[in-house]
Amino acid sequence: CGIIGFTGRLEAQKILTEGLAALEYRGYDSAGIAYFKDTGKISIRKTVGKVKDLLAICDDENNSTCGIGHTRWATHGGVTNANAHPHKVGNVALIHNGIIENYHEIVNKYDLADSLISETDTEVAAALINKLYDGDPKATIKKVVAELQGSFAFCIMFKDQPGKIFAVRNVSPMVATYCDDGAFIASDLTAFIKYSKRYFILPEYTIMTMTADGIEMEDLEGKKVEPDYLEVNWDVTAAQKDGYPHFMIKEIHEQPTAITRTITPRIKDSLPCFEDDNIPDSFFEDISDITVVACGTAMYAGMVGKALLKNKFGIPVSVEIASEFRYEQPVLTDRSMVIFVSQSGETIDTLEALRLANKYTKKTLSIVNVKGSTIARESNYVLYTHAGPEIAVASTKAYTVQVASFYLIGCKIGLVSGRMTKEEAKTFIENLQEVPNLIESVITQAPEIEQLTKRMTNATNAFYIGRGLDYALSMEGALKLKEISYIHAEAYAAGELKHGTIALISEGVPVIAVATQSHVYSKVISNIREVKARGAYVILLSKDKDITDKSICDVHISLPQAPDEFVIFESVIICQLIAYYTSTGKGLNPDQPRNLAKSVTVE
Ligand code: G6P
Repeated sequence: CGIIGFTGRLEAQKILTEGLAALEYRGYDSAGIAYFKDTGKISIRKTVGKVKDLLAICDDENNSTCGIGHTRWATHGGVTNANAHPHKVGNVALIHNGIIENYHEIVNKYDLADSLISETDTEVAAALINKLYDGDPKATIKKVVAELQGSFAFCIMFKDQPGKIFAVRNVSPMVATYCDDGAFIASDLTAFIKYSKRYFILPEYTIMTMTADGIEMEDLEGKKVEPDYLEVNWDVTAAQKDGYPHFMIKEIHEQPTAITRTITPRIKDSLPCFEDDNIPDSFFEDISDITVVACGTAMYAGMVGKALLKNKFGIPVSVEIASEFRYEQPVLTDRSMVIFVSQSGETIDTLEALRLANKYTKKTLSIVNVKGSTIARESNYVLYTHAGPEIAVASTKAYTVQVASFYLIGCKIGLVSGRMTKEEAKTFIENLQEVPNLIESVITQAPEIEQLTKRMTNATNAFYIGRGLDYALSMEGALKLKEISYIHAEAYAAGELKHGTIALISEGVPVIAVATQSHVYSKVISNIREVKARGAYVILLSKDKDITDKSICDVHISLPQAPDEFVIFESVIICQLIAYYTSTGKGLNPDQPRNLAKSVTVE
């Protein structure tokens, strides 16, 4: 969900609705704002739908200078007006991210059932604050927080405290700033970057009071807490579409720059170097095994990392889904390296998995895009990717920079473990430095890809097949198609298809076959023949200049020449473009796929 709050010297409604539009990628089931009116009353506007639907019910003129806003990704309770935030009970209006796990017990303990009109856990929190409110907001918030189990980020307004916003959080992230225009709070910086590039992360269990004149914080014991300001090196234009029809296609185009920005500071004399990240070489020494833990696309970046590290450097690597890992018995020793991958750095399952792993090994490393995020702060070492803000829900540039990071890490481990000579490492890094150019040249094929997806828009199923690295990237390719075109897609190790799933291949079913790995090329071609013989519509991605035997595939996408390990970056771009144009070809909005949210801070 997205949170924004403002109190200061500007018109709040404009800041809130603009902020919500910027945050819509975090959830877009419903949207709402609450603000103080001249009369001292709190007014609420909220509706099912997107921010544009909210704007339709907002006043044209609104001179309020203090308010809070929310875009919802439904967890507790369906998508209805009543369940939309802000929630107002008696004297209290609030917005919330997270899940209050013991809301049911709270309703019974405090006899709140009669004051509730929605099905949300959030309204229970509002009702409890209202019930315990005795004119002292901070004291009340302390009492309430002591009752709550689960994760939460709250922005609260009390009717008798005009111009003030109170905030508190546990796990679910919130950032804030105070600048000339006033005080801002949001679930992430994109919501107020237009006003300030400086921000701080609201510490957990710290009560923040925001007024037009400043921000004050204290911990639950009443001790003053000072903000720890950070500054980003991107501005509002990085979070705008910049002439592109969608964020996703803009972000696809940004990949060469994002990769260059991520790898360049980590290369010295053509060798990987993590000095600026304060990661000593000793961290990469004497590793018995690596576990990669992540969710979604980040986990699929880990799959590529695994294919590379295991096959090229002979290191045992496993990739674990964070929500599984955290409830299993970890098989880790103090020589195990655990790598956490997360664009947002806030995904709750990845974070909890990290907290678990920290108990077993000091060798925890995170690959994170958002500076100062919780996962970055709690891992022993962090390697920031420099993708810039990723707004489209379906990840593209964040994925490729994560993969590029694995290449740097792999090369470093290869070097320090003696599995790779200096010369080999230099060649490897030089090839990595060529990746942005390779991507540039692949992106020029976009019009052809758009053409071929015309054949995809009617599909109900699709398959991605490949072996080795091609299989690893196919998983991400299939996920992209599912997420934004709603076509059921599966990635299969090309040799495994015949052991069951080939039963699903019938006339015209699209099969995207990736055959770029020389040592298994002929094997994949044989697998392609198996599906072609059953009527599949085969789109082949390979390094061949041309396919003379036209019986192999229906469409051939010829990829620019690159060593096997690096050509996969090209294949990924093609997969992203296939998904994007299939989505737009179906008239869908790829930036906001149904049911999804960009950052998932609930279990
Ligand atoms: C959500 C998003 C995915 C993303 C996953 C992990 O489910 O919809 O696109 O891959 O979270 O997010 P993270 O921020 O941890 O990379």
